Amino acid sequence: MFSKKEIYIFLITASIIGVGLVLPSCKPEPKPCESIGATPYVWEKPFRFPDMNIPADNPMTIEGIELGRFLFYDSTLSKNSVQSCGTCHKPEFGFSDIGNVKSFNANGILTKRNTPALLNAGYQNKYFFDGRSATLEESIIDATDHELFTDWTNNVNYLKNDTFYANMFEKAFGCDAVTKENIVKAMAQFIRTIVSSGNSEIDTKFFRTNNYTLLNPAAARGFQIFTSERSDCFHCHFTNILTTDNLFHNNGVQNSGGTFNFSDNGRGTITAVQTDNAKMKTPTLRNIALTPPYMHNGQFNTLREVVDFYADSVHLSPTLDANMLHSGNIRLNLTNSERDDLIAFLETMTDTFVINNPKYRSPFK
Ligand code: HEC
Ligand code: HEC
Repeated sequence: MFSKKEIYIFLITASIIGVGLVLPSCKPEPKPCESIGATPYVWEKPFRFPDMNIPADNPMTIEGIELGRFLFYDSTLSKNSVQSCGTCHKPEFGFSDIGNVKSFNANGILTKRNTPALLNAGYQNKYFFDGRSATLEESIIDATDHELFTDWTNNVNYLKNDTFYANMFEKAFGCDAVTKENIVKAMAQFIRTIVSSGNSEIDTKFFRTNNYTLLNPAAARGFQIFTSERSDCFHCHFTNILTTDNLFHNNGVQNSGGTFNFSDNGRGTITAVQTDNAKMKTPTLRNIALTPPYMHNGQFNTLREVVDFYADSVHLSPTLDANMLHSGNIRLNLTNSERDDLIAFLETMTDTFVINNPKYRSPFK
């Protein structure tokens, strides 16, 4: 028999050995799953451009942006494995789909609307012509679901099993980071970098100096028409350096025969308010010469057609914006050469620097 004392000694020894046995087998603390190592992206804002609101839960990092660039151009994310965001948002055409009134999505069906340019998209607070998404992240989910028809389970698995991608996700977001949420976040980070260079003629000649007479002579004349009550363009397109007020207007593109029923009710489909019918988000005019066709329905092929429309064929309807009437007149009294001048002014917004910047191009080419 053991004495009480011996039992105590046995128990103490056993527990020490036990602890000794248990300790080495204890796993080291798991790494915190945050992009602690990721490098913050330092962005040089173009002259006079406003600050961009970056969501607190998706700070921009070099690694996140690079991952986002790969995902933006990766066709394996699409249902038909041949399309990516870049198929419709082509960098060489201001991230729009030049020449296509509407584009085929990954289900082989035409998009409802013309593909808009993605330049300066990070500045917006409503996305799509009807403003149905309030954040860039939300709009990316909309695009993956309704343009690419992304199968999330398959795609997350594919990205997890691809060592190149798994590595990129870890560098950007930490461990176990291949998730739908992070795919969307990385794409949003990349899209937020697609910002004007600040080197187009309107920037170097006008926004830096505030002296429009430094623009080429035709554009300077066009500037006066654009920014005055002659044409009223500035009310919606020139309230800030981004050339869009980010609001919804009916600029008279659609003919409803005087009724509230338009073929595309735009903002009205989201708010269900009849007086919002046919209102579309004002698009940016930056790089406008590079992004035909124009309007939500791609109905105009050239800037000349657009200017002729504003001058001669705006449709009267119950939701038409008051700024489409010029001293009560729905027609603009513009001569041919004044129309050319307006176009020359629009062409000063062409930003070849952003178009040619390799950092926005597909990494797969
Ligand atoms: C098949 C062509 C097509 C593909 C592919 C596509 N888009 Fe688009 N995109 C469009 C069209 C068309 C719209 C306008 C839709 C609307 O307003 O209802 C749009 C609008 C957007 C907008 C809103 C822009 C704004 O100014 O309001 C964002 C952001 C966007 N797309 C991002 C993406 C991303 C990210 C991908 C890839 C996941 C993608 N798109 C894939 C055609 C496409
Ligand atoms: C009441 C606000 C408003 C006024 C004033 C206005 N626009 Fe617009 N503009 C818009 C809206 C909204 C759209 C998009 C309409 C659509 O897609 O159906 C647009 C579209 C455009 C487009 C095509 C953009 C694209 O990417 O497809 C051009 C170019 C343009 N406007 C130039 C002008 C010019 C030039 C004037 C003056 C003659 C002018 N706008 C006056 C609101 C306005």
